[in-house]
Amino acid sequence: KTAAIVGCPFRCPRVGVDQGPIHLVEAGLVDQLTELGWKVNFDGHHQFEEVNVAADPPIGKLKNPRLVSKVTEAVAKVVGGHAKKGELPVTLGGDHSLAMGTISGTLDAHPDACVIWIDAHADINTAETTDSGNIHGMPVSFLLGLGSPVPEFSWVKPALKPERLVYIGLRDIDAGEKRILKENNIKAFSMHEVDKYGIGRVVEMALDHVNPKRAYPIHLSFDVDALDPSVAPSTGTPVRGGLTFREGHYICEAIWETGLLVALDLMEVNPSLADAASVQQTVTVGCSLVRAALGKQLVRREQVD
Ligand code: ARG
Ligand code: MN
Ligand code: MN
Ligand code: MN
Repeated sequence: KTAAIVGCPFRCPRVGVDQGPIHLVEAGLVDQLTELGWKVNFDGHHQFEEVNVAADPPIGKLKNPRLVSKVTEAVAKVVGGHAKKGELPVTLGGDHSLAMGTISGTLDAHPDACVIWIDAHADINTAETTDSGNIHGMPVSFLLGLGSPVPEFSWVKPALKPERLVYIGLRDIDAGEKRILKENNIKAFSMHEVDKYGIGRVVEMALDHVNPKRAYPIHLSFDVDALDPSVAPSTGTPVRGGLTFREGHYICEAIWETGLLVALDLMEVNPSLADAASVQQTVTVGCSLVRAALGKQLVRREQVD
């Protein structure tokens, strides 16, 4: 088993989120995965072509559209390439707009893959509904082919079907996004459902929805801001009332246990947004989530008793 670390030091527009992947690798992620028995393929962070900011004015409300398009298209090729070789791409970000690339890459290699999106946000705004113009709030709509097409992003194939997508952890959704979720019948387990049913039931229900026969490959896209800010403070758009340390880990462990994981994203780690201790805490949690998703064996209750 081989994991390919795709480090994407990419920020857009928020300064600092580009340092996330560098910190995660410096914290020893490669060795940690090697210790879990993975062959780890990492040959440095992804180098992105520079797009002159002056030459990249907004298109409609969308900020830095050419840069985001170029970067995510490159990431799609890299992730798709690893996946086709049978490697498990672990993409470290960076801006969650990168998921446009990672999921395109996964669906290119595994057209029947489903997506489990762990986030405080739905990231499903279209060019019409976005208030902020930040493309990190929009990748899912591009993957689903919603909203009027943006020519700059014509490379993104609408390869994801709404029934192959499920969310866990939502608690900050824009009005337009709510409408989109409803209209497209997209299943979402907000923090309310996590409280109501417990994380064990929620993950089971999410899998039953998106992968009823446990037959489809799974792409797990994990935004660290799904976790409560007390657990993962260094991130660009924190929202209180999030997943606990264990709930976040449980999701990763349960998905690993399906044996169906084919790609993992860990996104929005932003070391510039907090004091040193908070950064270290967030980076440590990030590495720990990746280990959990890649099969770190827990000592089972049965083994303890
Ligand atoms: N819904 C808001 C927006 O469209 C926030 C999105 C936050 N997404 C993220 N990847 N941090 O701007
Ligand atoms: Mn971002
Ligand atoms: Mn988020
Ligand atoms: Mn996100």
